[in-house]
Amino acid sequence: MQTTREHWGNKLGFILAAAGSAVGLGNIWKFPYITGENGGAAFIIIYLLCIMLIGLPVLIAEILLGRYAQKGPISTFRDFARRHKKIWTAGGILFFITGFIILGYYNVIAGWSLGYVFESISGHIAGISSSADAATHFRELVSNPVWTLFWHFIFVAAGGLVVYFGVRNGIERIARLLMPVFFLILIFLVFWGVSLDGEGKGLTFLFQPDWSTINFKTVLIALGHAFFTLSVGMGVLLTYGSYLDKNDNLLFCGSMIVILDTLIALMAGLAIFTSVFGMGFDPAEGPGLVFNVLPAVFSIMPAGSIFSLLFFTLLSIAALTSTISILEMLVSTLLDETRFSRHHIVIVLSLLIFVLGIPAALSFGGWSHVRLFDMTMFDIMDYLSANILLPFGGLLVAVFVAWVLKKNTVLNELYRGIAEKSALRKTGDTWYFLLKYVAPVLIILVFLSITGII
Ligand code: PHE
Repeated sequence: MQTTREHWGNKLGFILAAAGSAVGLGNIWKFPYITGENGGAAFIIIYLLCIMLIGLPVLIAEILLGRYAQKGPISTFRDFARRHKKIWTAGGILFFITGFIILGYYNVIAGWSLGYVFESISGHIAGISSSADAATHFRELVSNPVWTLFWHFIFVAAGGLVVYFGVRNGIERIARLLMPVFFLILIFLVFWGVSLDGEGKGLTFLFQPDWSTINFKTVLIALGHAFFTLSVGMGVLLTYGSYLDKNDNLLFCGSMIVILDTLIALMAGLAIFTSVFGMGFDPAEGPGLVFNVLPAVFSIMPAGSIFSLLFFTLLSIAALTSTISILEMLVSTLLDETRFSRHHIVIVLSLLIFVLGIPAALSFGGWSHVRLFDMTMFDIMDYLSANILLPFGGLLVAVFVAWVLKKNTVLNELYRGIAEKSALRKTGDTWYFLLKYVAPVLIILVFLSITGII
């Protein structure tokens, strides 16, 4: 059992660590390619609505629950559910499983991005001359088990190392160091991209909606992505919230995390689509977008190897601050539930995560024919966790905070440490309303719509 709980050094440390968790492959790798596949601006508008009406309220609720309970997800649900304790404990276990699945495939893509940092340094990217060339190079790399499994292993080990050092000395220190570097690199790339896109095609694609591309499935993808990108719905923010002091303003912290995450996704979209259109490539390239198209873009740019190095470093940093957050959730759960030490838990979990990632890594090579519902192991892990388990986890958080805990308890926790409570009453009430009615109803509607019931 854990005796004393670690806490963040201060509020900024928490915001940077939580924003580090939120900002990840979801923003830079996934957001651009699903936007590209789902028609651009109209998809972005639906995604932004999902963020505001569902993502933000549930994110605040999840952090609030962690701060209130001062525990990891399983213990929180078990100890604070007044009835149906077993069912709620199962909900906590589901969070654990979701985290495991996401880490399994997430580390694979993160490994690719680290591998591409070395591709840039070694000059291989500079040698690429067309998008076909880039795609061939990409396919050769990802279908080579030695290459993917090597980088996958290095990435899992890097995340394990940070979490090994704990909350303040490991996670917070890395976030404080890397998040500002990340932001600077991104700003630089946005300016470059916009200067390339002479006819503004990238901007039109991102900001001029075409509603004919939208259907229920697109809405589900937008909703799933809202949870994925904010790291909501699997207990990561609950865990980070449990390391928070009682005196920080949750409405402020939550909004800052969401604003940073959304801003960074839009900036990444800008940098990528302006470059893609500026250089005449196809935006609907799929998961390979940043790995297929961008190296080709970089190779034709002056000083392209440097941009390529910057970009893939950016992607690796973003991925690292996200993987450590998921690993920390798993570690904190086991610290609560078992007698093992942090160090032992980190080592064993990292090994298991590496093993779980192997089928995902091989999905792009030797095991690409292993399919279920026409999806590879990688696709299944991604679809199941991002589009089903995370929205379901978000639903659990919303129901637990708004329907299981007492309203008074919840609002007291929300306003704790805020001097001017009366000024925030309206905001607090709106948040509670969104959490109690709007978010659950919308999540359930989207689920029903894909099962074909409505
Ligand atoms: N939010 C991260 C991203 O956008 C991924 C993530 C999902 C991290 C769930 C933690 C929990 O890449």
